[in-house]
Amino acid sequence: MKKYKNVVVLTGAGISQESGLNTFRGHEGLWENHRVEDVATPEAFIRDPELVYRFYNHRRENLKNVEPNLAHFALSKLEEEFEGNVTIITQNIDNLHERGGSNKILHMHGEVTKARCYKCGDVHPWDYDFDGGTSCPSCKIKPALRPHIVWFGEMPFFMNEINFALEQADIFISIGTSGNVYPAAGFIAQIRTIGSALTVELNLEPSEGSHLFDVKHHGLATKTVPKFINKLLKAQIQ
Ligand code: APR
Repeated sequence: MKKYKNVVVLTGAGISQESGLNTFRGHEGLWENHRVEDVATPEAFIRDPELVYRFYNHRRENLKNVEPNLAHFALSKLEEEFEGNVTIITQNIDNLHERGGSNKILHMHGEVTKARCYKCGDVHPWDYDFDGGTSCPSCKIKPALRPHIVWFGEMPFFMNEINFALEQADIFISIGTSGNVYPAAGFIAQIRTIGSALTVELNLEPSEGSHLFDVKHHGLATKTVPKFINKLLKAQIQ
């Protein structure tokens, strides 16, 4: 393996599966027993805000019972030991990358551990339950807080930074994502169009865009990710 300067990693629900968090697909189309349209759309929030608050309160609470796994730790080791730049783009709303020690993380679908005021726009770190009766710490208005999550039909965060990172990438590693949800599902094609980055898929099974990757290792993230990262780091010091 040759030396690389800019590593871009895309992660999805599969990287957190072995920590005990459910992935989205593969549960008869249900996410934690709910249809996505009932909990993860702006329309759902208008229709039944208390259900949506409750749903994300559970997700936030559940995070306190899980730990980062070997795949998360391998990525923080990469960031620490790699001579070039490492950018993690994650579709995950959990905080397991941070807790695994990674620093440069772009949460393109938001973070369940934050609340955003839809009146003043301020984003607040949020560790406990909130609902329509909770006021915004900045503007004191209620109800005004919503989960800091990108719902279906909303614009993902950090797209400028993500596009820049994809343009600069020498190696693109996609981990634990089914390739069903755009724009992330389109990054592989985007990378192939822009340049000559090595593209690597580390997933339990072939994703939707699997045929577009140069290198594929299918298996559990806690096995494939540390193995691949160690190989990458070894190539760096040779
Ligand atoms: N190791 C590696 N891969 C795994 C593991 C594992 N232990 N377990 C599951 N996977 C793979 C599955 O085979 C699947 O291809 O992870 C992928 C998870 O796919 P999805 O459940 O579709 O999750 P993701 O791609 O992150 O979903 C994207 O969709 O619902 C929305 O906004 C939500 O961010 C989410 C987006």
